[in-house]
Amino acid sequence: MSILIKNGRIITASDDYKADIYIEGKRIVSIGEKLKVNADQIINARGKLIFPGGIDPHVHLDMPFMGTSSSDDYSTGTRAALHGGTTMVIDFVLQTQGKSLHHALGQWQKRSNGKAFGDYSFHMAVTDFNDNTRKEIKDLINKEGITSFKTFMAYKGALMIDDGQMVQLMKEVKDQGGMVTVHATNGDMIDTLIAKHKSEGKLSPWYHYLSQPEVTESEASGRFCDMANYTDVPAYIVHLTCEGALNAVRQSTKRNQKVFVETCIQYLILDASLYKKGFNGAKWVMSPPLREPKDQDALWAGINQGMIQVVGTDHCPFKWKQKLMGKNDFSKIPNGHPAIEHRMELLFSEGVRTGKISLNKFVEVSSTNAAKIFGMYPKKGCIAIGSDADLIIFDPKEKHKISAKTHHMNVDYSAYEGWKVTGKVKTVLLRGKVAIDDGSVKIKKGYGQFVKRNKVSKTI
Ligand code: URP
Ligand code: ZN
Ligand code: ZN
Repeated sequence: MSILIKNGRIITASDDYKADIYIEGKRIVSIGEKLKVNADQIINARGKLIFPGGIDPHVHLDMPFMGTSSSDDYSTGTRAALHGGTTMVIDFVLQTQGKSLHHALGQWQKRSNGKAFGDYSFHMAVTDFNDNTRKEIKDLINKEGITSFKTFMAYKGALMIDDGQMVQLMKEVKDQGGMVTVHATNGDMIDTLIAKHKSEGKLSPWYHYLSQPEVTESEASGRFCDMANYTDVPAYIVHLTCEGALNAVRQSTKRNQKVFVETCIQYLILDASLYKKGFNGAKWVMSPPLREPKDQDALWAGINQGMIQVVGTDHCPFKWKQKLMGKNDFSKIPNGHPAIEHRMELLFSEGVRTGKISLNKFVEVSSTNAAKIFGMYPKKGCIAIGSDADLIIFDPKEKHKISAKTHHMNVDYSAYEGWKVTGKVKTVLLRGKVAIDDGSVKIKKGYGQFVKRNKVSKTI
């Protein structure tokens, strides 16, 4: 099967030019002006932008968490992602404390095998580092192509590891060619604040926000950077939300340390005032919580300064019935919000259209950098000869509104209900096949493949 995309304006992390793209099988075969080739299918992209398929390196699909499971599985989650131009996601395998990493991997393989529409990979979350776990790291990197290891400095008793485990894990991961990523908030401080608020009868979603002040994140981010510097491991902070945490990373650059930083779309465009809406604020209960407008400014600036390389979602949806588990106690509200479908359109509309970021920066933070950081470039994350033909054909002018009535995620509300967006994903190609065309899905469940990743480095 061959496809010729004609007359589009190609945008990569570095370039902006008009050319045709010729695809044979799964790959891009040639790019050039007015290509003279015969193709099985011709797509006219006049007036449209062509981006590399989006990569969201932070999603939680079908994840057991806080007494329930996130409501999108591999099928609904990756399909919704494709509708929004995200052709690949990286999910988190969570080790059960007391059990092996391979045990957890087996569970996630069962959940995902044959179910995905879009491509996917796994980070391995190490929640119990010991001598047995240590021995598994090499295999995961070399045999399974899982080269990033997630750690939690919060969620004590379930996911959190202490600093001793962190440093030992970092040393092993460094030796084997992997990367350590982190949820960087101070779990002990947060647990103390949660207990205090509960003892005072302060139980609404507002107190979720007040239990995780900025210092809990800036302190943990600084500590993580110090440990990563000490062990010299490639390091990445997930879902960074605030000025203080970004400044902690900035501090580390003064010794020429490179710690990669991801923020998420919600932290750029939503703020903590949403927690004042009574229990309705539960829709945005996530950790870390939404912050202040001054933090949004710091994050946009951080993107342009090259301090923040990735914009993900931390997509972790729960239906309203699940959120109601915390009706009388904010600490029981399952943490997370749905966004996998809207990341790229929101980032384009709120970032590029408003002039906050350039088109090239948009591609960099929504696709290319994730591919580079996580060992998939140039197979993924770019428009180049030989790369997977993962492409978005995008109408930069079309206006639409986000609503739970029209979205494709398996959740009965939208965290962005009524949000007006300019710019729409029209056609999505995944490995040379049209996956989405004008809102219809053209591939079958199971087309999505697990992507093994390469070893990583401290720089990109
Ligand atoms: O609230 C969140 N972020 N839920 C998912 C788990 C995590 O901490 O990333
Ligand atoms: Zn987290
Ligand atoms: Zn997460």
